[in-house]
Amino acid sequence: MTGAAENRAQDLDDAGVVHRGGDGFIVAVGDAAHVLRRIFVPRRVRDTTERGQYQSRIAAATGGGVVLRITAAARSSRCQREARILRGMATYNSIGATYAYTRRPDPRIAAKIHQALGGAATVINVGAGTGSYEPPQTVLAVEPSAVMIAQRPAGSARALEASAESIPLADDSADAVMALLTVHHWSDLEAGIGELRRVARQRIVIFTFDHDISRRFWLLDEYLPEAAAFDDTRAVGLNRLVTLLGGARVETVPIPHDCTDGFLAAFWRRPDAYLDPEVRAGISMFAQTCDDVIQPGLARLSDDLSSGRWHQRHADLLDREALDAGYRLVVADL
Ligand SMILES: C[S@@+](CC[C@H](N)C(=O)[O-])C[C@H]1O[C@@H](n2cnc3c(N)ncnc32)[C@H](O)[C@@H]1O
Repeated sequence: MTGAAENRAQDLDDAGVVHRGGDGFIVAVGDAAHVLRRIFVPRRVRDTTERGQYQSRIAAATGGGVVLRITAAARSSRCQREARILRGMATYNSIGATYAYTRRPDPRIAAKIHQALGGAATVINVGAGTGSYEPPQTVLAVEPSAVMIAQRPAGSARALEASAESIPLADDSADAVMALLTVHHWSDLEAGIGELRRVARQRIVIFTFDHDISRRFWLLDEYLPEAAAFDDTRAVGLNRLVTLLGGARVETVPIPHDCTDGFLAAFWRRPDAYLDPEVRAGISMFAQTCDDVIQPGLARLSDDLSSGRWHQRHADLLDREALDAGYRLVVADL
């Protein structure tokens, strides 16, 4: 089921697309690590005080669960973006249209991923998107978004429109399975990792981020703490990941200052890039966060760049070639 049909079928507490056409917003409810429910509140909300009242009501309604944040606003509220809180497929069908412009695989990160794949003669790429980082021995891509699949270059491995949680392939289908910058989008991590373990014969390679480190990235810490809270709701704890994999080694992936893959921290030494809407469109945290939440922080960043304050405060970054912004390779042998 796709698009409008899926929207109609969704209920309010589902983690799928929710838009009922009326005013309102969506909150994520859960504990510090996991979103348990996302709830649409069917009413126009004009200010943060009123939002707070809704948050209290929702927390009470969910047995004292913590309201993590307002994650999106509906079409007819001040936010222009349609309210879509998102399962992976819906997410990238709506935000992935320009992915290939700003998300070009970085050769230094590619080298690390390919090294981590070891001698695998066959590789399946799960959450493959547009095909970044696929080595020549890739036999199949698994990707739920048709919009992403459509951007795969000619000659790429065949793509199967499916989700990690239920991969329609036989056990032991390839030597290795890789899943890059995708696990934080999955609706059921445990099911997804179970599927990777079932489909891979020898090795699983996951590229992800350690949010304990990435939330200290200057952009989130100083300018966009509310948006960082969104990442809190979806970040995958490394310990949990390693446990689900049945053990794994974790490697730091430093991000080069001129990284060509425009993910969240890629522009750590090029702060002006975050003021470019095209760059932001390629970063899911921005694409999934209401403009009302983002714009004040970006305005401050713009001011700090014009005044030189950012450069003073971050002088230590300007000579660095690479930064540990929390990105990690998690490599499991089966
Ligand atoms: C940030 S993109 C990364 C794409 C690609 N792996 C890369 O490194 O460029 C995240 C991808 O995960 C996909 N995705 C989201 N939910 C998923 C799920 N449940 N199972 C598999 N892939 C999913 C999205 O559609 C999107 O293509």
